[in-house]
Amino acid sequence: MSFPFLADSTNTGTTGVKTILVTGGMGFIGSHVCVSLLEENQQVIIVDNLCNSNKKVLSRIEKITGKVPAFYSVDLMDEEALSSVFKRHNIDAVIHFAALKAVGESSQIPLSYYHNNITGSLVLFKVMEKYQVLNLVFSSSATVYGENNPIPYAEHFPLSATSPYGRTKVMIEDILQDVFKANPKWNISLLRYFNPIGAHPSGLMGEDPNGIPNNLMPYIAQVAVGKRDVLSVFGGDYPTPDGTGVRDYIHVVDLASGHSKALQKLFAAEFPSIDAYNLGAGKGYSVLDVVKAFEKSSGKDIHYVIVPRREGDIAEFYADTTKAAKELDWQVENSLDDMCRDTWNWQQKNPNGYQS
Ligand code: NAD
Ligand code: UD1
Repeated sequence: MSFPFLADSTNTGTTGVKTILVTGGMGFIGSHVCVSLLEENQQVIIVDNLCNSNKKVLSRIEKITGKVPAFYSVDLMDEEALSSVFKRHNIDAVIHFAALKAVGESSQIPLSYYHNNITGSLVLFKVMEKYQVLNLVFSSSATVYGENNPIPYAEHFPLSATSPYGRTKVMIEDILQDVFKANPKWNISLLRYFNPIGAHPSGLMGEDPNGIPNNLMPYIAQVAVGKRDVLSVFGGDYPTPDGTGVRDYIHVVDLASGHSKALQKLFAAEFPSIDAYNLGAGKGYSVLDVVKAFEKSSGKDIHYVIVPRREGDIAEFYADTTKAAKELDWQVENSLDDMCRDTWNWQQKNPNGYQS
């Protein structure tokens, strides 16, 4: 375990100032959430083993906020190292992002996915109980709605999954339901993200996929910047207005504000509970809508070809956002054009991601 970036992260006890441990805080979504917490003057501690992120994220967080969070290069499965972080800090809540997340890869190396995502979560929850840190926000996914639910997806729908990755999310949600039943002092928010895209408006932080991007937006951005020749549009014969897949895209900065709202609700709760919330925009855009919006934002032509459907994809899904609006007092502020503008700004300034 290393302590190279240790800032003063001891809880001051000041009313309203909380100490938040962020697992996976160096990643795409976690880094944006850390910025938003620091901007709210919360104390932030990051635990990340850097298996899918870059240490440069820390200096970018500092550039944006003027603050450096405490950072521990720790694997969640290392119970001893994780315990020592809990021993050292007076933690009020945990936001748990750390996971492997590539759907296709999860079918090729399922054991690694189950081990990392499930074991990592079990160790974390055990250590949290030991130190009586019982406020938790968990990164779940719209993938837990499986392929048989009607749209829009609502939180009470039955859960299922079509990939080992998706099953880890369903399993962890189930584990947390059992944990809460056994000890109702736990206070848990299960946040089901739809399709997070975009980047920090400064252009200093964004999504930095390894190798060929699996997801639509980073692929389009790499075509626009000249790193890839052509986008393959997976399927042009879906029962959607233009035949291409429809998804609910959400700006990563809006997603970050959803985490702040979820934390506020946990801290204000009279009685602890476990609740699931959809974090999405509540409307769908097709692949070709996204291509057109990106062309408008970037001024670049996005060359594409329509190819056969990708296995495991479904035609269309988007969120019912009523519950998050009502109970978290949260809604998105950024449009698809904003998401494309900020992605393009990040991609242009960092054509090779954090390696640039
Ligand atoms: P990411 O890969 O950018 O971030 C995950 C971070 O966790 C990385 O920095 C990685 O190094 C770290 N990590 C992984 N395993 C670890 C371990 N065992 N110990 C310590 N650190 C570990 O991914 P992201 O896009 O920021 O996603 C964050 C969370 O949100 C994940 O749980 C993911 O499943 C979930 N999610 C993401 C999306 C999406 O589209 N990005 C959609 C739905 C849900
Ligand atoms: C995928 C995952 C989902 C995960 C989400 C965010 C699958 C089946 N699902 O969702 O579990 O939560 O990413 O990480 O992988 N598309 C193209 N060409 C491309 C890439 C994508 O046409 O090169 C299309 C897809 O067919 C889909 C849309 O773009 O219609 C969005 O795809 P993607 O960004 O991969 O997200 P999802 O498939 O919705």
